[in-house]
Amino acid sequence: MAQYARGSTVAVIRLCNPPVNALSRAVLQALEDGLKKADADPSVKAVMICGENGKFSAGADIRGFSSPERSGGALGPIVSLIESSEKPVVAAIEGVALGGGLEVALGCHYRIAHMKARMGLPEVTIGLLPGAEGTQRLPRLIGVPAALEMITTGKHIPATEALKLGLVDEIVEENTIEAAIRLANKVIGQPLGPRRLSLKPVPKLPNMEAFLDKALVKVKKQAWGCLAPELCFQAVRAATERPFAEGVRRERELFQVLLSSGQAQALQYAFFAERAVRRWATPSGASWSSAAPQPVRKAAVIGLGTMGRGIVTCLVKANIPLVALEQDLENLNKGRKAVMVLLEREAMKMEGGAQTLDFHNPARLQFTVDFDQLRDVDLVIEAVFENMALKKEIFHKLSKICKPGALLCTNTSALNIDEIASATNHPQQVIGTHFFSPAHVMRLLEIIYGRHTSPTAIATAMQLAKALKKVGVVVGNCFGFVGNRMMFPYIQQAVFLLEEGSRPEAVDQVLEDFGFKIGPFRMSDLAGLDVGWRSRKDQGLTGPSLPAGTPARQRHGQRYSPLPDLLCEQGRFGQKTGRGWYQYEKAGGRTATPDPWLLNFLSQYRDTHGIKTRFIDQEEILERCLFSLINEGFAILAEGIASGPEHLDVIYINGYGWPKHRGGPMFYASTVGLPRVLAKLQKYSEAHPDVPGLRPSAFLKKLVAVGNPPLKEWMSYLSQQSSKL
Ligand code: CAA
Ligand code: NAI
Repeated sequence: MAQYARGSTVAVIRLCNPPVNALSRAVLQALEDGLKKADADPSVKAVMICGENGKFSAGADIRGFSSPERSGGALGPIVSLIESSEKPVVAAIEGVALGGGLEVALGCHYRIAHMKARMGLPEVTIGLLPGAEGTQRLPRLIGVPAALEMITTGKHIPATEALKLGLVDEIVEENTIEAAIRLANKVIGQPLGPRRLSLKPVPKLPNMEAFLDKALVKVKKQAWGCLAPELCFQAVRAATERPFAEGVRRERELFQVLLSSGQAQALQYAFFAERAVRRWATPSGASWSSAAPQPVRKAAVIGLGTMGRGIVTCLVKANIPLVALEQDLENLNKGRKAVMVLLEREAMKMEGGAQTLDFHNPARLQFTVDFDQLRDVDLVIEAVFENMALKKEIFHKLSKICKPGALLCTNTSALNIDEIASATNHPQQVIGTHFFSPAHVMRLLEIIYGRHTSPTAIATAMQLAKALKKVGVVVGNCFGFVGNRMMFPYIQQAVFLLEEGSRPEAVDQVLEDFGFKIGPFRMSDLAGLDVGWRSRKDQGLTGPSLPAGTPARQRHGQRYSPLPDLLCEQGRFGQKTGRGWYQYEKAGGRTATPDPWLLNFLSQYRDTHGIKTRFIDQEEILERCLFSLINEGFAILAEGIASGPEHLDVIYINGYGWPKHRGGPMFYASTVGLPRVLAKLQKYSEAHPDVPGLRPSAFLKKLVAVGNPPLKEWMSYLSQQSSKL
């Protein structure tokens, strides 16, 4: 709601809808009532609009967009009503003014902001555009280039930048409300015409057409298949070409297109899914509501390879004092140099630079080869080679050296957390914290609890994710956890498709067209084919421990493709060696080009194994890769490894480049329709009976049998008894 109060001359309208003063129907009605009341009261000479609890408003109530009667058009007329007021209206912006919240402020004649406030039009990030005339007013106020940037990226900008752009008239360090009332009193009686943005022309650029054409190319390139950025662009373009009222009409049309697009629903689902996973729970009853984190005053990272370097960078950026440990001086020096390069780069991006990060201060970041230096740390993250014996040796050491309450985390990508914990005296303190490469960039932190992990340990790891500005997702312990476990069948299908007649670039293209930033073969080349090879050797699937006489394309009675192993045996590890599924300009090169050698190799391979090549269409590529991944997701849910489909989706969006505008794999399955996913899996499974990844999961079958319920009801069909499906 909005509270109305009258001072001597200034009426105050306060938006109240905790926690973020979202503009629900009730708030809008109260705002409109308040404006009308102020207008009708002759003793009121000016109006001030602010938000309750130090926040202006985070905009429209996103939950409201999913209700059919909601068209998003209710706010525009109210913004117009504010602007047309004959009494000056001042916005007092504290905390956030986002989306519809900022559009309300744009309707005001003056804007004053607290210096810590943030402003933005993030509608594009939830698949929409600022539909309350924001695409028409903002360019008139701050010019087309800055408005386009804000509207097509959804970026939040700090008050200092808003002042430079002319988005606000003033910023204050102290009481914003009092300053706004002072301003309101000062401007009483001044002409309002020049303050009404709808009456202003859009500032001209020397060559607007050329600027817009170039901007459109950039917007399309960054959109990666997402519709909203381009439609945001079109709405701003309309502001440059048409009078205000016509621009508003165009904005409304485009808004309706987006509102009814599946992409907006997917992005809004993703917004809430990211928040839902914060409320973690485990099958044993531990949960976010009862577990409290323990403080992390000092941390340590063991191993400064690819992952350790990024993890150190994250911790330094989060201002956590840190000890970085390597196995010997040579690796320590190598790791230290790499860490410094990363930190210098990060510092350049930050206001205040190296001083803010303070990484040259040994009290904040210490490098060592001495385990004794870990005596007083509250948390350790181990990131040494993926080798169980080595990890156990390290955890045994840690359990002896660290204080009993220290949290012992492993960055393993697939190994058993319980087995690692068994090497310690404090298995309740052991937890998986699975970062994604590059660790200082990727937002996902998969948090894996073992059989003995305490609720406090989980809560502490979740708190750490928040401190590192990452999305923590709590999952159970199984081989590959959630993300990699779902990835295995996906990669497996991609390789089988090659055996059957496809090419790496054809498979990658289909998945990149779907929206992945990078297809499975380009991804394997980037990550290094040797990583999986080592793991398969450890599992006895290839290499010297493979029993003599094992059929080349079969393991444990299931179909197996030795193709990736054969590439590794040829020294083709991907980008690092300049050759993999593709060829590169040099070792470490990044430009993938199809390799005639590989085509030749594949054809010989098919001849050797008597595989008949066939044409494989795009639909089959997409379905076999994605549906097998989704199928594994259903198995994971049935086993209780994750507490809901949102967890899987948040993991895939933030850790595996799944296109956010498709909402994550499980959401995508719900949009395709579970009966269709099931029917296709059945069809492929019949054609490939030796591939368990294509055999439909019992949980998927059950959901189809009970009538394809909406995603939010899926988990209710997993009773205690059926969780062993
Ligand atoms: N509508 C409904 N609920 C919202 C909301 C919104 N606009 N913004 C936040 N919330 C909810 C969150 O879901 C969360 O709820 P739970 O506690 O139940 O999980 C709660 O408010 C607090 O939000 P956060 O956990 O995200 O808190 P934070 O402090 O980390 O971030 C924020 C605050 C920066 C405002 C962030 O919530 C945010 O970015 N919100 C979305 C802003 C947005 O996209 N606004 C545009 C809306 S569309 C619009 O306005 C359309 C139009 O023009 C017609
Ligand atoms: P890496 O090989 O790049 O680095 C490992 C580092 O550990 C090396 O610098 C090595 O000197 C150091 N080390 C080895 N033994 C040590 C010891 N006894 N004491 C101290 N340091 C020691 O490996 P990478 O890629 O960083 O992987 C580390 C862990 O992270 C592995 O468990 C891996 O599975 C996991 N992981 C890797 C990802 C990746 O993309 N590379 C992604 C997510 C997890």
